[in-house]
Amino acid sequence: MPNLVIVGAQWGDEGKGKVIDLLTEHADAVVRFQGGNNAGHTVVFGGQKQVLHLIPCGILHEGKICVIGNGVVVDPDALIQEIEQLQTAGFHIGENLKISNLSPVTFAFHRALDKAKEMKRGKEKIDTTHRGIGPTYADKYSRLGIRMIDLLDEKRLRNRLEQTLDEKNYLFKHYFALETFKINDLLVEYLALGEKLRPHVTDTAFLINTLLAEGKNVLFEGAQGTYLDVDFGTYPFVTSSHPIAGGASIGTGVGPTRIDEVLGVAKAYATRVGAGPFPTEWEGGGEALRQKGNEFGATTGRPRRCGWFDAITVRRAAMINGFEQMALTKLDILSGFSKIKICIGYKIEGRLQEDFPASAEEMDVVEPVYQELDGWQEDISAIKEYEKLPENTKKYISEIEKRVGVKITIISLGEDRKQTILLRSFFK
Ligand code: GDP
Ligand code: IMO
Ligand code: MG
Repeated sequence: MPNLVIVGAQWGDEGKGKVIDLLTEHADAVVRFQGGNNAGHTVVFGGQKQVLHLIPCGILHEGKICVIGNGVVVDPDALIQEIEQLQTAGFHIGENLKISNLSPVTFAFHRALDKAKEMKRGKEKIDTTHRGIGPTYADKYSRLGIRMIDLLDEKRLRNRLEQTLDEKNYLFKHYFALETFKINDLLVEYLALGEKLRPHVTDTAFLINTLLAEGKNVLFEGAQGTYLDVDFGTYPFVTSSHPIAGGASIGTGVGPTRIDEVLGVAKAYATRVGAGPFPTEWEGGGEALRQKGNEFGATTGRPRRCGWFDAITVRRAAMINGFEQMALTKLDILSGFSKIKICIGYKIEGRLQEDFPASAEEMDVVEPVYQELDGWQEDISAIKEYEKLPENTKKYISEIEKRVGVKITIISLGEDRKQTILLRSFFK
């Protein structure tokens, strides 16, 4: 099997980083295809913890090609800081890191706009990561974006900045009452950042297609999750990209016929960071589960809202992404509960809902219908074989498989690479 797309099946932070790191061992290249440094992917091995934001998790393995695809928005300042931090930690970053020449660039004014728009929305805010993600994608689709290739040419960069800043400075001054940005200052700063990144900038669509033609194993690393997708998520409480499997094609230039398999990643419960509907959220945001699962954002440190596993959303995620198998993570966190619930239906005004709510307002008022299962008390974090799991853990896993309609092929029982039960092989 030459390539695999890994996607989040919930609201992000499902443990994609851990799963990607695990499967990187047998991959030749790891490719990010959407999002930006709003992502925080945590990898733990040998007592070390690394959080990746823009650089694919594959960078922690020697000799893997790591690609930032055209669908990713790149904040060059954040990227250089991440490169330096990883180099200080002893990881090699040179020829192995490739950045698409077509990736839209996030500038300081995108970050400022992100914050200013959130302030203006007040109580209706989306609770973004303030990384400038939305404004960068908005510029791309308004055809006012500035791409990595433009950072490498002073004349082109000046021209593009003039086009895009004209309107924004008007907004900063007259609508937000904030400082404006000066083209000359931005030119100096961003040309210097572009020079630092120049050795990595290339035609990554050609590179990835060449690797695939050579029969190399390519892993596509999704960020965020299905319900943060700008089309299929709980709009408008979403991010501005396509974290779903279809995004892997657009965000890399690899045709859909060349993509072989999709693996969904879901937590054994549910979390969401930021505002928006969350049907199975525990009362008060799920403080007890948050403490137990250490559910604090890997990018912003914000507390994540917590609740029970929602089979309705994950089943729909399987359909939208086309995955038939899943990695189930953080099952160890559910040890010690006498009862565990799975959401198996939604009610609106007392009626069982057949269709999936299309609006955030409807999604906000659905009442989850739960199936209750007996829990298990044992610590399962050191178990290495499926057969040794407690009977009730196995029942919970098979109930999820049945309700979602997929096979669980990876069971994650702890944050470390080694705390995993792999029920099939990948890339062999
Ligand atoms: P991502 O954004 O999907 O890569 O997920 P994050 O890294 O933001 O959040 C997942 C968190 O759970 C990280 O702190 C991981 O180290 C941790 N984690 C992943 N899998 C497991 C697991 O099976 N058990 C436990 N206890 N922690 C896990
Ligand atoms: P990973 O890859 C969880 C959320 C933000 C906010 C919304 C929009 O680690 O799973 P944005 O800054 O993207 O415009 O914010 O999306 N969000 C995430 N939530 N995990 C992430 O990434 C996220 N990236 C963005 O909290 O609600
Ligand atoms: Mg995360």
